[in-house]
Amino acid sequence: MKILGIESSCDETAAAIVEINDAHECTLLSHVVASSMDLHVQYGGVVPEIAARSHIESIIPVIDEAVTPVGWDDIDGIAVTYGAGLGGSLLVGVMTARTLAITKNKPLYAINHVEGHVYANFITRTSLPDYNLTSVAPVFPCLALIVSGGHSQLALFRDHFDYTLLGQTQDDAVGEAFDKVAKIIGLPYPGGPSVGKKAVEGNPHAFTLPKAKMERKYDFSFSGLKTAVLRQAQALCGEDFTFPSRMLPERLYEAQKADIAAVFQRVAIETVVDKAIQAYEEFSPVSVVIAGGVAASAELRRQLKERLPIEIHYQDPKLCTDNGAMIATLGAFKAKLGQPTADPYSLEIQPNLSM
Ligand code: KG4
Ligand code: ZN
Repeated sequence: MKILGIESSCDETAAAIVEINDAHECTLLSHVVASSMDLHVQYGGVVPEIAARSHIESIIPVIDEAVTPVGWDDIDGIAVTYGAGLGGSLLVGVMTARTLAITKNKPLYAINHVEGHVYANFITRTSLPDYNLTSVAPVFPCLALIVSGGHSQLALFRDHFDYTLLGQTQDDAVGEAFDKVAKIIGLPYPGGPSVGKKAVEGNPHAFTLPKAKMERKYDFSFSGLKTAVLRQAQALCGEDFTFPSRMLPERLYEAQKADIAAVFQRVAIETVVDKAIQAYEEFSPVSVVIAGGVAASAELRRQLKERLPIEIHYQDPKLCTDNGAMIATLGAFKAKLGQPTADPYSLEIQPNLSM
């Protein structure tokens, strides 16, 4: 069974085809991503209107390129992200998928973007070059740590389509905190990779930053940490809280920026790792997966490896950030396991869809 996945919830226009066999092994057959990230860099974050316009330009060429190696006749279904995400961006993917489902006469599967991130870890084979794929699929019960620019969730999957959300961020997502801290110290967007690179030169214990205490033990909060970074940066410049943040990058020395990056990265990653370890001890899952853009973080992988008694599952970085393959994979399981299809005449976007 071959499923086309379409993703357009943020700044990546993406499409991919995944094949699932009777043993539920998933093979990536095509993978195309067009990012509008370059257009957002000068603003230090994604501008929704620019992202939506760019999806309109890219979506048909991206889908064409993804479908070419397989051909429409051999595609058994279309999976599309219908939430969560930016409204204007989601609309482009959903309207395109609805139209294709009708005109090509294929079943349509509506995919939750955050659940999709987890399913990137089920891709274990590919016919494409240059992928360093996880060799075995996760086994249930599975603890999933989903950390991206828009989401920070900890969920326990007992089986396909049977999971409990243990906790989530109450304000900023962890990737968003990386992006905001990068802006404070004048590093390029996206902040995850640029902060990670700068942190290598810094001292992760140069000063202390607070970890938020939450009412519900598996929830996260990162807005206080981001403000603490801002205050620390102002203090390092000998200024108080009234000093404009846009002037910080030119006032901070490179060594100070590196220390801020290193301390922030250590504390932000420790925050999610602490919760993951706590959940691991409480629920004794058989496997642990990390998913989402921040799953590409070397520091996250290092800390989990150091503190968890089992191997963690993580995917090739190309499949951690937003992509169509993760959407196709969840769609493939839905198709294979007889989950309900969506109505191509009425499927609506859900920008605030939760897990
Ligand atoms: O999953 P994703 O592509 O989009 C969302 O669904 O949000 O994640 C993007 C986020 C950005 O905040 C980016 O800074 C972060 O993932 N990111 C990283 C790394 N690569 C991307 N964070 C830490 N380390 C990385 N290597
Ligand atoms: Zn995402």
